[in-house]
Amino acid sequence: MMKKKHGLTILKLGGSLITNKDRPLSPNFKAMRIAGRAICDALVENRKLKLFLIHGGGSFGHYYASMFHATTTPGRVASEGVSRVAQAMISLHSMILKELIDADVPCRTIAPGEFLTNPKGRVTRVGSNKISALLDIGCIPISFGDIVTSNRGTWIVSGDQIALSLAESIDVERVIFAMDVDGIFEDSKMKGSIISELNSRNQTLGTKRKFDVTGGIGSKIAIGFKLAKVGSDVYFVNGKKGERLQKLLSGNRVLSTHIVSKNISS
Ligand SMILES: Nc1ncnc2c1ncn2[C@@H]1O[C@H](COP(=O)(O)OP(=O)(O)OP(=O)(O)O)[C@@H](O)[C@H]1O
Ligand SMILES: [Mg+2]
Repeated sequence: MMKKKHGLTILKLGGSLITNKDRPLSPNFKAMRIAGRAICDALVENRKLKLFLIHGGGSFGHYYASMFHATTTPGRVASEGVSRVAQAMISLHSMILKELIDADVPCRTIAPGEFLTNPKGRVTRVGSNKISALLDIGCIPISFGDIVTSNRGTWIVSGDQIALSLAESIDVERVIFAMDVDGIFEDSKMKGSIISELNSRNQTLGTKRKFDVTGGIGSKIAIGFKLAKVGSDVYFVNGKKGERLQKLLSGNRVLSTHIVSKNISS
């Protein structure tokens, strides 16, 4: 069981889970429902579980982002691209929101711009108050990867990056990345076994999927190590396996890849 019980758990529902990532604009409702039920059951089992949800772009955000050449660094993106990516994310967000609420997971949207100084920056004071106010009334804040425009240009902020920004600013005990695979494979062709504990960034190699603009598994692992360094335990788990997700949320060991925070120094 986990030692610190009252810290925040961030659960990132990956685009690889909630969409069919290689098929444009294709939601995976079955996976959304399985995840919804797992979250609901974990909340029933542990009423003290404090959650923050984030979801990725999958074949919604990434599809238009790659079509219009939007990247994670500020640059010029055609206005239609900005509109399309943003609209696709709102549309996917609305689907996952409905599935979660229908599964008795009372969540409430908080867009990245509402609580981060800039989407790669820290959580603002107003943002932090907003998050605690929602948690206090039993609402689970939910955010998502998005496209952002400022006077520096337009860029994509990934859901993984939002998790890191949160953990750098407020006390985040655990970050769980739910994906469509069982964890991190030691083999880049995803044929070998799952690494149970990741200690070194060079332990694995990965490949990016079609349409991916935020770096795929390589960036996810890099963010995982940054999270561990700021004090969060990190897990990569298959969100299609509802029981695993539920057990992990409840603090049990399941098939997954773990980065143990205390084992990671600078
Ligand atoms: N060594 C590896 N171990 C695990 N997954 C890998 C590996 N190499 C490549 N992958 C791929 O990486 C994917 C997960 O990263 P990806 O960024 O595509 O998903 P995501 O973060 O869930 O989606 P999104 O970025 O849309 O939120 C898996 O679906 C898998 O196909
Ligand atoms: Mg990703």
